[in-house]
Amino acid sequence: MKKILMLALCMLMIVTVCVSAQAATATQTGTGVTVIKAADWAETYPDVYASYEKNAENKDIIDHVEEYPMIATVYEGMAFNKFYGSARGHYYTVQDVTSTGRPHALANCFTCKTPDFTAKVNNEGVSAYQIPFEDMLAEVNESVSCYNCHANTGNELVVTHTYLADAMGEELAGLNAETASCAQCHVEYYFAPETKAVTLPYDSMAAMHPDAILEYFEEMQFADYTNPRTGVKQIKVQHPEFETYMGKGSVHASQFSCADCHMEKATNAAGETYTSHYWVSPLASESIQASCAACHPDLSGFVKGIQAKAEERTVAIGTKLETLTNQLADAVAAGTYTEEELDAIRQLNRKGQFYWDFVFVENSEGAHNSRLTTECLDKAEALIDEALTLIKL
Ligand code: HEC
Ligand code: HEC
Ligand code: HEC
Ligand code: HEC
Repeated sequence: MKKILMLALCMLMIVTVCVSAQAATATQTGTGVTVIKAADWAETYPDVYASYEKNAENKDIIDHVEEYPMIATVYEGMAFNKFYGSARGHYYTVQDVTSTGRPHALANCFTCKTPDFTAKVNNEGVSAYQIPFEDMLAEVNESVSCYNCHANTGNELVVTHTYLADAMGEELAGLNAETASCAQCHVEYYFAPETKAVTLPYDSMAAMHPDAILEYFEEMQFADYTNPRTGVKQIKVQHPEFETYMGKGSVHASQFSCADCHMEKATNAAGETYTSHYWVSPLASESIQASCAACHPDLSGFVKGIQAKAEERTVAIGTKLETLTNQLADAVAAGTYTEEELDAIRQLNRKGQFYWDFVFVENSEGAHNSRLTTECLDKAEALIDEALTLIKL
């Protein structure tokens, strides 16, 4: 009986996923659009709007530099080593980008923070990325909101961040629209050196693997910053949730969209269902956990087990990276190594840190794709170990 029930549940789940799977489409650009604000939808969609407002409750912030002391050294040469706050709710994006204590020169930092900038890029083109930060701030009305995911339609999913469409090409149409809506921001990106435009370091789903991303950065010899003591040209990975969840080894990638696990279906007082726009962990939603219970009777324990393993290794390898940084700095200062010898160590350091960072800055702490997490940590550790053997102290 239990087995039949489980099978029925799985079938139902697969059918629901198929019915709701909608293909992603990109917005028209150059139309001179004015953003319809979140509050303007409050009357039309009161339940969605109320759940959206709830994001203000996700307000806790942890200082990663205090939590992970090694990043003061590992990120030396960029401002993240002074203050690096943990992520919190969408409600706070503008506040957080303006008060990080890190300098922002250009408006491109608003890319994942406010629809006002998204619309600006869509209206004016890539030149908008080079507007001075303070000038753009004067035009910002709100944090991440309806326009980012729905354009001005109010309920259809539309990709408004066109760099995602550019990276996906024809594959965009095959991508689940709900997942695409999150992939607009929860991705690895860089600022193109000439235009300062937000650009994704791949041009297909297959090229989203960390190996391919690293190769992409190698080919263009890209660096986000240079460590002042070691001379290592570092790549700062951002939040690669999309690449990790959709990557090789992901158990649920073809079955669940980001929204399936992060936006619960809720019921209002009149008994009507709607999609909650309170974006939180699935472990904070009873109804999502109930929908997984047939296979994960203790989702929380299961997830925490995966995370604890990933966390332990991430800290251990991060500490090794700190040691490598300090030893390499000493080696540089000693003046007894040739540039060639130093460059060989620098290159291993650069690559090892890239794989480590790919895990460290991913927000699920291993839960989205534990196989890929392990693969990246293995690669990071091997590269760092090899670098350490080249330093003769
Ligand atoms: C326009 C950009 C943007 C889009 C689109 C977006 N996010 Fe976010 N999201 C962010 C930013 C930026 C943060 C971090 C906010 C902060 O800390 O100030 C964040 C934070 C979050 C958090 C909170 C993390 C925490 O530690 O509390 C969750 C959960 C989340 N997003 C899920 C989603 C999901 C699911 C989608 C798709 C339905 C999505 N986001 C789409 C930009 C975006
Ligand atoms: C199969 C379910 C599942 C899917 C699908 C999924 N996630 Fe997650 N996500 C999780 C779990 C589990 C965690 C860890 C939650 C925790 O630590 O409490 C998580 C954590 C996160 C966090 C950090 C939230 C927090 O509160 O710390 C963000 C942001 C996030 N996911 C974004 C995404 C994005 C973007 C996608 C799609 C590309 C996605 N997730 C797809 C299960 C999922
Ligand atoms: C980060 C992306 C994102 C933002 C921001 C966002 N939505 Fe949504 N919205 C979604 C997703 C994903 C769905 C899910 C389902 C679908 O339609 O496939 C959805 C569904 C909806 C629906 C369909 C009805 C329902 O309850 O499922 C409405 C209406 C809606 N959103 C309104 C809004 C409004 C109004 C705002 C601003 C207050 C907003 N959304 C902001 C991503 C977003
Ligand atoms: C039909 C059964 C089934 C359902 C339903 C299901 N899962 Fe899973 N899930 C699995 C299996 C099997 C694995 C792989 C377990 C392993 O690797 O040990 C898994 C793995 C996971 C992982 C870890 C992924 C990784 O890379 O290690 C997470 C997180 C997860 N599921 C979350 C969810 C959430 C959230 C839901 C509900 C929305 C859900 N699952 C629904 C069967 C299911």
